[in-house]
Amino acid sequence: MPQSSAALFFTRWLRNPRGVGSVIPSGEQLSAAMAAPAVACRNRPVLELGGGTGTVTEALLAQGLAPEELIVVERDPGLHQYLSERFPKVRVLKTDAARVSAALHAQGVHQVGAVVSSLPLLSMPLLTRRRIVADAFRCMGRDGFLLQFTYGPRSPVPPRMMVAMGIRGRPVSRVWRNVPPATVWQYERI
Ligand SMILES: C[S@@+](CC[C@H](N)C(=O)[O-])C[C@H]1O[C@@H](n2cnc3c(N)ncnc32)[C@H](O)[C@@H]1O
Repeated sequence: MPQSSAALFFTRWLRNPRGVGSVIPSGEQLSAAMAAPAVACRNRPVLELGGGTGTVTEALLAQGLAPEELIVVERDPGLHQYLSERFPKVRVLKTDAARVSAALHAQGVHQVGAVVSSLPLLSMPLLTRRRIVADAFRCMGRDGFLLQFTYGPRSPVPPRMMVAMGIRGRPVSRVWRNVPPATVWQYERI
């Protein structure tokens, strides 16, 4: 990753530590682990939530997703501009992930196949977390699934929330060589 994107990420974190959620972007291995199930399943298009400086975006494209098949959401204006310039062929929306389904409809996109989220869910209030997860599922058909990484030991979507929403989750990969080590969770409808 070029120094300028690391510096930009850090600057945005300084402005909004809870909103950005991490001092450094995800490492290459974690980004690859996040991208792999979404690219492999052939469900299209793919929606990425919390693009940051584009480490996961880059992994999705590197694994074979066409730029036209990817939509990235980033709420931070500085990061949104950076992503738009870095990936000119990818649609990058400056919107809140909790309202992404409406933003997609406005773009003429009525369904996505998978959602890949790097959002800092654990630092969000439970109600916000629930709104975001519910809206992610609103964007997808029955066989769609949500990928979310966490640095915590448990599911970032609490079990009771899963039950209430009619979804289930399981860890699909652990990335020990990320700093800090991370787990990728996959959620789908029951
Ligand atoms: C931990 S960073 C991850 C960035 C990058 N994808 C990575 O893995 O390094 C989380 C990103 O989500 C964005 N974000 C946080 N809350 C958001 C929200 N409600 N809607 C859209 N983006 C949000 C932040 O601005 C930040 O860029």
